[in-house]
This record gives sequence, C-alpha cells and structure tokens, in this order.
Amino acid sequence: MKAVLLEGFGGLEVLKVGEVAVPQPGEGQVLVKVMATSINRPDLVQREGKYPPPPGDSEILGLEVAGVIEEVGPGVTGWQKGERVMSLVGGGAYAEYAVAYASHLMRIPESMSFEEAACVCESYITAFLNVFMIGGLKDNNTVILHGGGGGVNTAGLQLCKALVPATKIIVTAAPEKIERVKELGADLVVNFRETPDFSEVVKEFTNKKGVDVILDHVGAKYLAPNMNSLGYAGRLVIIGIVSGIKAELNLALMMVKRQQIIGSVLRSRPVKDKGEIVAEFTKTALPKFADRTIVPIIEKVFPLDQVVEAHRMMEEDRHFGKIVLKVAS
Ligand SMILES: NC(=O)c1ccc[n+]([C@@H]2O[C@H](COP(=O)([O-])OP(=O)(O)OC[C@H]3O[C@@H](n4cnc5c(N)ncnc54)[C@H](OP(=O)(O)O)[C@@H]3O)[C@@H](O)[C@H]2O)c1
Repeated sequence: MKAVLLEGFGGLEVLKVGEVAVPQPGEGQVLVKVMATSINRPDLVQREGKYPPPPGDSEILGLEVAGVIEEVGPGVTGWQKGERVMSLVGGGAYAEYAVAYASHLMRIPESMSFEEAACVCESYITAFLNVFMIGGLKDNNTVILHGGGGGVNTAGLQLCKALVPATKIIVTAAPEKIERVKELGADLVVNFRETPDFSEVVKEFTNKKGVDVILDHVGAKYLAPNMNSLGYAGRLVIIGIVSGIKAELNLALMMVKRQQIIGSVLRSRPVKDKGEIVAEFTKTALPKFADRTIVPIIEKVFPLDQVVEAHRMMEEDRHFGKIVLKVAS
C-alpha cells in the first residue's frame, strides 16, 4: 500500500511517499481503508524525532482516520465490512490502510463527508476530554482556550458553543486570526503577540473572579499568567509544552485558591481508557456533528502525495482549523 514514510527524522525533507505492506488487524481490531486523515501538531513533533509512537503502534505518522472497514479482526463484534467509520489510532493514518481498535471506532454520520470526519477524532476528542471530562467545564462558567486558529482550539470553541452555550469563552490568538475566532463565538480574544501576559485582561473581563478552566498547550511561559487568571477551585489542564518545560509556581497562592494543575495526554492512554473516552464523546458530542451544529473547519484538503505542503502549512501557522490529507476518492 501507499504510505508516507520517514527517511530519518528532521524537517520536511524526510517525508517520502513509498510502499509498505498492508497491516493486519489483531485481536479486537479492524482494518480500515483510509479515505482521509488530518494533520495534527504532534505529527510534526514525531517527524522531528521527539514524539515516538507508543509501543505496539505503527511507526507511520497520523493519529486519526476516516474510511471504510475493510476487514474485521478476531474477537470483534458489532462492526461490519463496508461501514463508514472514523477512529483515533496510535499511529499509521498517513496510509491507504490502517488498523484501529473496534472500541475506538465511531460511525460517521450520513451528513458528514470523509474529509470532515477525518478532523474529528484527535482535535475534538482532545478538546472534549480535557475541557469537559477532566476540566469539568459547566454551563455559565468561564474558560480560556489558548491558540486561536489551531485544530484543538477551534474544536474546543465549537464544542463549548454547542454543549455549554452560556459559558464565556476567552481565546488567545495571533493577530491575523482574531476576527475569525470572534466569528466562531469567542467572547474575548487576546492578541498573544501584543499581550503575552493576558492575566490582567482576564481579571478585568471576569470582574477579578478569574476563570474556571484553562486548556493550555503553551506550557512554561504561560504558567504564571495562567495561574493568575485561574479563579478559586479553577483547573489548568496542560496538554502541550511548546514554550518549555520548567517554570516557577507560587504554591501558596495555588493552595489558598484551591487550584488544580492537571497534565494530560490522549495518545499513550491504555486502549480501554481511550474506548471509554470515545464512548462518552459518541454519546455527548457526536449528535452535534450529525445535526450539523458543529461542522469541522477545514483550511485545505491536500492529496496524500502533497504531504510536504500540508506539513509546511501547519509549520508556518497558516491554517485556521484543520488541514486534511485525502488518501482515496
Ligand atoms: N496532550 C494531548 O493529548 C494532545 C493532543 C493533541 C494535541 N496536543 C497539543 O495541542 C497543541 C495544539 O495542537 P493542534 O494539532 O491543534 O496544533 P495547531 O493546529 O498547529 O494549533 C496550535 C496553535 O498554537 C497557537 N500558538 C502558537 N503560539 C502561541 C502562543 N504563544 N499562545 C497561544 N497560542 C499559540 C497557534 O495559534 P494561531 O492559530 O492563533 O496562530 C497555532 O494555531 C499542540 O501543542 C499539540 O502538541 C496535545
């Protein structure tokens, strides 16, 4: 089968389209004929050699697939060859075929295209898990989502509008993306280039109360402004560390304000945990995709052969929402 292969680790030059054997579904897995996948920031980090796949998962890039079941593996019940499905995968999505755990599959609603479905599993489930299941965001709360036009952030914004419409949403964004973030429904957008310490603006916006939940992928540089923006019993959920891993923390303030800092990753969780997260997402969020309340935002669809251009677009932060790789027609 055709797949995107890595010739070593590094920049765009290591991405090559080549031929490899079709993977075989193991116990509890299905083989998916991949119609589309999408690019996630962790793919770029894996390409650079800094984010290896969990043991047992494919070395091929790609964390989510949308396609059709080609073969059902041993021990799988309730799924048939030919069904339209989307799934999280630990790796292997930049290819014509990929294996996925049956417990991680979701049926693609009839109203959705394969390209749209290819955007759902990694970005929306990451946002759903961390903002709602871990962060515990409720309606009428206030939340900060960092990273204006990014895949996870736009997904988080759309999920908040759909699931907790009375919640106030604060977003940090690059200046060129501010208008589009506002159009998506953010109540306050802070230009992160002009105002790297957003905590004063947040205090003013919340009448000094602070926010209930923060979804952060910036890491060290944002620890202080995040903690200064968090209200009593607020939760800071850290899903990325793009600005560094070490920072100073005022433990007294954290204790007195009963705040929590929670680290979270999706990819390396046990299969069973991911199955439970997918089941909760299927029940709570998927109906909003089926009725088109949430429509994934696609910046551009690239054919698999143009994977270099797709990675370049993300590397240069030229996207708003998701970048899709179309694998088959
Ligand atoms: N822990 C997990 O399970 C998990 C899962 C998936 C992703 N992640 C992490 O989540 C992050 C987002 O992933 P993604 O796939 O959505 O990537 P993405 O589409 O490239 O989004 C990242 C966004 O970060 C923004 N950004 C850059 N510098 C910033 C700053 N100083 N302050 C605020 N935002 C800044 C950019 O915002 P603009 O659009 O405004 O330019 C960019 O669009 C990555 O760090 C990724 O590793 C973690």
